[in-house]
Amino acid sequence: MTSSVPASSVLGPLPSALPASILPGQPLTALAPMQDVTDLAFMGVISHYGAPDYFFTEFFRVHAQSKLEKHILRSIDENATGRPVFSQLIGEDLHHLARSAAELLHHPVAGVDLNMGCPAPKVYKKNVGGGLLRDPAKIDEILGVLRQTVPGLFTVKMRIGFETTDHFERILDLINKHGVDLLSLHGRTVKEMYRSEVHYDYIARAVERVKCPVLANGNITSAATAVRVLAQTKAAGVMIGRHAIRNPWIFRQCREAFAGQAVTPVTLAQVRDYIARLYTATDHAGLPERDHVNKMKKYLNFVGQSVDGTGAFLHDMRRTETEAQLFAVCDRHLLAEPEKIFADEPYPGVIARPNCETPSAGADGCSLETVTA
Ligand SMILES: Cc1cc2nc3c(=O)[nH]c(=O)nc-3n(C[C@H](O)[C@H](O)[C@H](O)COP(=O)(O)O)c2cc1C
Repeated sequence: MTSSVPASSVLGPLPSALPASILPGQPLTALAPMQDVTDLAFMGVISHYGAPDYFFTEFFRVHAQSKLEKHILRSIDENATGRPVFSQLIGEDLHHLARSAAELLHHPVAGVDLNMGCPAPKVYKKNVGGGLLRDPAKIDEILGVLRQTVPGLFTVKMRIGFETTDHFERILDLINKHGVDLLSLHGRTVKEMYRSEVHYDYIARAVERVKCPVLANGNITSAATAVRVLAQTKAAGVMIGRHAIRNPWIFRQCREAFAGQAVTPVTLAQVRDYIARLYTATDHAGLPERDHVNKMKKYLNFVGQSVDGTGAFLHDMRRTETEAQLFAVCDRHLLAEPEKIFADEPYPGVIARPNCETPSAGADGCSLETVTA
């Protein structure tokens, strides 16, 4: 098997050392890849409030007919955050994975990441994403081919198993065998989806076993939680997804906490500013107002977890249909007491999407439609 584009001869070697953290010597922080979320617009908004050390793109789907999706490429080519972006692939075909990885090396990527965690049934049934965790022999082949193709940083994001953790150690040994440069580990099995307890003890076991740095992922809800999880797992850093949608200040707050400083609290007025910025950033020509408001609701489902303990903001926000209605609800809930503190942890029992515990059978990825927190 050869790749159609010999990347190393086109570009020369990529850096093989991981980029340094923003504050030298601190644990790493990364924004978790999230389909339909971690695009150029959202990366810009996040970096306004305090960028993570690393960004990861949502996944590029790889199959015989696939082309690198243009909207995802924008988050690499037009990245103005000043922070590196790793590009994620999902697939199982060796030739086309190598082809796509080689194509990505023509773009300013920090590295190429393989998705071995997506739990959507439509995905894992094709033996890609989390489905790969059932098949260590296939993982061995894929890691080998991608390692050969990517001269610079080659990274993996995975869960601790498919239904059980029977293959966990074996897969970690494959991570070592193929010289993977960074492992992001979501401490749940595929079948545990997004809402079970996170098995940080497995992340600690991975840290002990693999040679590369590990990013701990799963329910890092606040800077204080990040500190706790790092102490428990000894991971090199944290990867944060849904709680960065809820609280885009979280990476700056992590840096404060890692430095032993008090974390700067966020006020409800600042959250109102975030929502307005997100609204502007996610607008584009031809987007109908109703669709834009619906898109905003998907982000605000997470934000609302820290506005009030009764879920009143979420209740009212979900009933809006126009921009004016949406911002009237924001003003009512966020500017009545503008200096009130936005809770740094989600209020207990305030769930992002109470009626959507599991992805529907039709869901072909991890989208905001299907993932709760
Ligand atoms: C809306 C959404 C989309 C996601 N898309 C991806 C993806 O494209 N690639 C991936 O590896 N993980 C994806 N994930 C999983 C996250 O990267 C992360 O592993 C998971 O949400 C657990 O971290 P958290 O508790 O910090 O959110 C997605 C998660 C969410 C909520």
